[in-house]
Amino acid sequence: MRLDLAPTDDVFVLTGAGISAESGVATFRDANGLWENHKVEEVATPEAFATQPVLVWRFYAQRRAQAKTVAPNPGHRALAALEARLGDRFYLATQNVDNLHEAAGSTRLVHMHGELFKSRCSDPACDRAPFVDDRSDFSDGLPRCACGELERPHIVWFGEMPFEMHAIKRRVQRATVFLCVGTSGVVYPAAGLVGEMAYRKSMGERVRSIYVGLERPANAAQFDQVVLGKAGEVLPGFLAA
Ligand code: APR
Repeated sequence: MRLDLAPTDDVFVLTGAGISAESGVATFRDANGLWENHKVEEVATPEAFATQPVLVWRFYAQRRAQAKTVAPNPGHRALAALEARLGDRFYLATQNVDNLHEAAGSTRLVHMHGELFKSRCSDPACDRAPFVDDRSDFSDGLPRCACGELERPHIVWFGEMPFEMHAIKRRVQRATVFLCVGTSGVVYPAAGLVGEMAYRKSMGERVRSIYVGLERPANAAQFDQVVLGKAGEVLPGFLAA
């Protein structure tokens, strides 16, 4: 099975934890959404950071340390190769905070849920920009901004607005092909993007949406095609030139 692309096609790709699973990064719902018996939703929130910043930083320090040990898999590489072919007719929005798409060579991508290897000041009024940060040892205390406030992971927590939503929506609106890979389709607004394609199709536009992943996502009914399988096994053939 191969994705047929015309020279006029414009491809929007949305990826989730499943694309990094074969690289050894645990998906969220895999571990029952638990970390050390805490629900991830209890650690990845502004409220948790306000009340238990040490716990929250320990969670992200562990994830940083683990992320340093992983490498891109054939799924990431197939998407980077597709971008090399399509240039500006390709756009990738990932929900993942790891940097495996970049490591595979992707450049036209946004991290809608933030980046594990960046931090920023926790004070929204501080004008310091987010910065690259791979520290994972906070035994000497939590990192503080020059303004005095704690630094925080540059991650979109539950209850916070994903990054780049305007740009993402514009790209979905101009896309003719929506390819979604390895996401359970339960976390919004990402899970709602395919609905835009379904709507445009219902209005007579020639657009397609395809899901690739291990199991049917919660929003499977909105896709034109669901391809079941591992991203690293399906994508190289599916996206071959
Ligand atoms: N190839 C393709 N898909 C896979 C693979 C694989 N090798 N392994 C697992 N999957 C699929 C699972 O079947 C599941 O549907 O990937 C999906 C992963 O789902 P989640 O763990 O829910 O991850 P995701 O959808 O990315 O989570 C969305 O939730 O916790 C928040 O902000 C966090 O970005 C995250 C968001």
